[in-house]
Amino acid sequence: MQKTIGTLRKATILLCTLLLSAATVRAADDPAVASKTFTIGMSQCNLGEPWRVQMNAEIAKAAKQHPELKVVFKDAQNDTLKQRAHIEEFVSAGVDLIIVSPKEAAPLTPPVARAVDAKIPVIVLDRRVLGDKYTCFIGADNKAIGKAAGEWILQKLGGKGKVVELKGLMTSTPGQDRNAGFREGIKGSQIEIVFEADMKWLEPDARKEMESALARFDKIDLVYAHNDPGAHGAWLAAKAAGREKNILFVGIDALPHEGVMYVKQGVLTATFQYPTGGAEAIDIALRILKGEKVDKEITLGSRLFTKENVDAGGEPIGSPAPGPK
Ligand code: FRU
Repeated sequence: MQKTIGTLRKATILLCTLLLSAATVRAADDPAVASKTFTIGMSQCNLGEPWRVQMNAEIAKAAKQHPELKVVFKDAQNDTLKQRAHIEEFVSAGVDLIIVSPKEAAPLTPPVARAVDAKIPVIVLDRRVLGDKYTCFIGADNKAIGKAAGEWILQKLGGKGKVVELKGLMTSTPGQDRNAGFREGIKGSQIEIVFEADMKWLEPDARKEMESALARFDKIDLVYAHNDPGAHGAWLAAKAAGREKNILFVGIDALPHEGVMYVKQGVLTATFQYPTGGAEAIDIALRILKGEKVDKEITLGSRLFTKENVDAGGEPIGSPAPGPK
């Protein structure tokens, strides 16, 4: 009797082991069971500018390498209220993660905070929200870029000159930082800002503002615009007035088919790269979704493109000066 019970127990254990390993093999074989799929909601503030089209393209390309990711894109068409609603919609839909490139800092802060409260991780890309209620911020250092632009311009103009500053939307953090950094870069010099205006990142607005500047000032040495569309808009205005050859134009973004091309054409004297961070956002999203801990701030690098270095791919900014050997 004892022997029969022992044999029965052994047979049961064997059967259970066989069943378990069969289930494991089936789970591993079937990707739908083995890997969960994740939905990422991507809230883009507008798609009217090439730089943002590029950001979305980089996100889509990076996500395509990961069949477990599905990205739902929403375009707020430069309307803050619409972008707030998009984030609320992502929260109600219960997406697994949100990526947001906000139009303006203050109005987008509460919906991002509500997403975090709802336990949805949020990656803030390029423009910031206020405070630190988000999972991770990815972007280049706009203050450092503005400062590098100021120092470069200072050198280019030999320490003095009349400059027009065409600012990006000043309710967005890159506009504020590119302005503050630039002012720091030219501090104490004889560079005079003769005209400044908020062109809201938009080429047509920059062109209009530059028309006013040209009408008021006979001498303008250089235009510092917070993005390449702004610098190009200013150049168009100067060209229409027959003055583009007497003025230097400096922008930020350095997309290959925009700013870098303008440098090659001699339209811009310089452009500073502002990477979109699209690929990095997907990389970080995957790590968050797998439960890994990520850094709260991820700072991307930047490069300077001028006529002299453009064919060699520009040069990094902020790289430490070579020290003694
Ligand atoms: C596009 C853009 C870029 C700029 C960035 C700053 O909307 O204006 O040209 O570098 O946003 O957030």
